[in-house]
Amino acid sequence: MDPAARHRRRRAILHDLEPGADDFLTAVTEGLSRAEKALPHRFLYDARGSALFDRITRLTEYYPTRTEIGILREQAGEIAERLGPHVQLVELGSGSSVKVRILLDALDQPHAYVPVDISREHLAGAAQAIQDDYPELQVEAIAADFAQPFELPARGAGRRVAFYPGSSVGNFPPAEAEAFLRLWAKRLGPRALMLIGVDLPKGAEVLEPAYDDAQGVTAAFSLNLLARANRELGADFDLAAFRHEARWIEAEGRVAIHLRSLADQAVTVGRNRFALREGERIHVEDSWKYGLEDFRRLASAAGYRSLDVWTDAGGLFSVHLLEVDA
Ligand code: TRP
Repeated sequence: MDPAARHRRRRAILHDLEPGADDFLTAVTEGLSRAEKALPHRFLYDARGSALFDRITRLTEYYPTRTEIGILREQAGEIAERLGPHVQLVELGSGSSVKVRILLDALDQPHAYVPVDISREHLAGAAQAIQDDYPELQVEAIAADFAQPFELPARGAGRRVAFYPGSSVGNFPPAEAEAFLRLWAKRLGPRALMLIGVDLPKGAEVLEPAYDDAQGVTAAFSLNLLARANRELGADFDLAAFRHEARWIEAEGRVAIHLRSLADQAVTVGRNRFALREGERIHVEDSWKYGLEDFRRLASAAGYRSLDVWTDAGGLFSVHLLEVDA
């Protein structure tokens, strides 16, 4: 870049509302003390976890990312028309921003991009990369947990549109997903839009490999929670003594992800020692799936009207357009 161009380079704004360091030790201790052991899945995404998740999104077995990108590419024109000109685009959990570029490229003079993400480092870089490529756009990043209270910047002449891709809404149990969507309806305001990616229910032969791939990347991703506890808390998890498992529970509509103990063993975390029986499982995360009508019902209970929905030809994934009820 020549010096004049550098001088003209627009800086993305970053509001740092990152909550105080969440206590990993307390959360792990609490989870392992339960009758049905669990690990706090919000700790999956440290630097190593985020790198592994990036690899998950490129796995042959993990269809959601490429399928959602395909839907967005194919429908970008129609989506852009529905959203209108000069929108303020608020992205929840902005990650690597591949998907948002599809929208920004299709939108009519987007006014502002407001990525909201818990990971400050990741966010600052991603926000500036978008700013550099879209110099007309006002980029205003917010480092925050998206469930914590904060206010969005004022919108411009167009509508406010939330973008929540990746079927991340499915990582909440349904009642929490509804509460989360309701909180965002209030934050976004009347007549705001929400463009949200939701994975569809399908057979175990597709779902289980998507969460337990042949190369073991997904296994490494969930085992990284134990590795992280070893690194950061001085815990003594023996990673070889646990097996990653993904099971589609059709009656409930979720893929349940667990780490199963392969032996009777004991683990020390902080001042506590936890016994695990052979075969006992530690719950890591769920990925809930919703049929089109089921998700419309959830959205309606959370205060949204359903305007449109797009799916891929294979019927794997859906992208819903919702409007906050006045
Ligand atoms: N939102 C992603 C999903 O539910 C998160 C995810 C993908 C995930 N693979 C995972 C979470 C494996 C835990 C373990 O599809």
